[in-house]
Amino acid sequence: MSNQCYYVTTPIYYVNAEPHIGHTYTTVVADILKKYHQIKGEKTFFLTGTDEHGLKIEQAAQKTNKTPKEFCDEIAAKYKDVWQKLGLDYDGFIRTTDLQHEECVKIVLQKLYDKGYIYKNKYEGLYCVGCEKYLTVDDLVDGLCPDHKTKPELLAEENYFFKLSAFQEKLLKLLESGELTILPDFRRNEVLGKLKLGLEDISISRSQLKWGVKLPFDETQVAYVWVDALINYLSGIGFNGDEKLFNEIWPADMQILGKDILWFHCIIWPAMLLAVELPLPKALFVHGFFTVNNQKISKTLGNVVDPVSLSEEFGTDVIRYFMLREATFGLDYDFSIEAIKRRLNTDLANDLGNLLNRSVSMANKYFEGKIVKKEDGELLDKEIALQAKEVKKEYIEFMDKLAFRQALESIWKLVVRLNRYVEETAPWKLSKEGNTERLAIVMYNLIEGLRHIAILIYPIMPQTAQNIWAQLGLKDEVKNQNLNNLTWGQLEETTVAKGDPLFKKSE
Ligand code: MSP
Repeated sequence: MSNQCYYVTTPIYYVNAEPHIGHTYTTVVADILKKYHQIKGEKTFFLTGTDEHGLKIEQAAQKTNKTPKEFCDEIAAKYKDVWQKLGLDYDGFIRTTDLQHEECVKIVLQKLYDKGYIYKNKYEGLYCVGCEKYLTVDDLVDGLCPDHKTKPELLAEENYFFKLSAFQEKLLKLLESGELTILPDFRRNEVLGKLKLGLEDISISRSQLKWGVKLPFDETQVAYVWVDALINYLSGIGFNGDEKLFNEIWPADMQILGKDILWFHCIIWPAMLLAVELPLPKALFVHGFFTVNNQKISKTLGNVVDPVSLSEEFGTDVIRYFMLREATFGLDYDFSIEAIKRRLNTDLANDLGNLLNRSVSMANKYFEGKIVKKEDGELLDKEIALQAKEVKKEYIEFMDKLAFRQALESIWKLVVRLNRYVEETAPWKLSKEGNTERLAIVMYNLIEGLRHIAILIYPIMPQTAQNIWAQLGLKDEVKNQNLNNLTWGQLEETTVAKGDPLFKKSE
């Protein structure tokens, strides 16, 4: 079974927090992957949403004197608003309080129940509301949850359990054979190591909670928030129990998540899919955390960075570039405004902005903007064409591995090379000497190089790419180009149109 659509997901965000730079990182990456696969000519679907059930959210609503639904409506709208302001182009936004999602959760749970993977049992344990999970005594530090610094509650209830242990062998095989891909490699090893220690069955329902999806086979209990939430990846693309309907999109090609929720996604989620006999996602990528002053981002610490004000100050493309160029995707990264400014002033304004500005200005000055393809060039010109070809190849290899930093470094090789080409060929001298023939070749190469750069940076900096495209006077839009077909010398002729500088330096 193969899907015909590149399907990428973010986790769905808890509505008891507001969108910050960490959530933005995950969502931006999904948006980049969508755009990358689009310029490779593929159909795509990008799903995100909000996680709205559970005790944490019930309690957060109570504090603000709102019903849980009113509370969720407000924050879900806020998430949508922020993503829209940041230009994040999702195709589906699933809320776990959507009726269609709740029905889907019931279908999946009923299937698990009918197949004998769910049973009832007594449970007693230490429950952390912050984590929405039971902790073991070993997890605690000085009697407190290490993440939330709160004392877990002793809960005893009769719950339904999912036979997670039944999938240990199967999961081991899938992970070891690479059929289930977890990236980066060190995360796969982490999961494998823990898996080898054994799997225990997990409780998948709560008897004392009201704010959740009622179990279809026992309406006195609601589904555990994590089981409910994971099913969003199916409900968000219209799963209603009939596999045929949603096969064009499922399985997911890439599920993006942060390192804190690795176990749920890499073990519990695949086990649930195996149990209901649905194909597994093709790959899961576990990324690192953005910290501020090397501390976790949190409201209580007062170090939340608002993505909207950042993008108002610097521009969304600058923030996207900064995030992907500075942090190595997969590892943690300590956020700072200084790093944004450094990237903006050097890579963006000095290198890329300047290259476009001087190329378009010279094209105007020497040829009234009109650039025409020239066949014969010197060795130096062939070197530029070869470099563009190599950069494209490298870029694709890196983007396919989600190695965004390296992909950008690769594009910048061409940016830097073209700036050097300007110095080497000195068009102003050629003009003075009246060497129009050579000057025309040099100008063509600069414009053709910039056309390559526009297409390559499009997934990461869509507005900048279109801005370059327009200043080069190219037809159609950059987003409609096909990366696979991109080759040197395709440009026949164009008339450039100078616009505003791409970037404003920051002091
Ligand atoms: N609701 C669950 C996910 C359920 S998916 C079936 C959840 N929500 S969350 O809002 O807490 O986190 C959502 C995503 O944001 C996670 O992938 C998490 O790792 C990521 N991030 C939250 N803070 C982050 C940083 N400071 N840095 C990078 N990513 C971070 O977990």
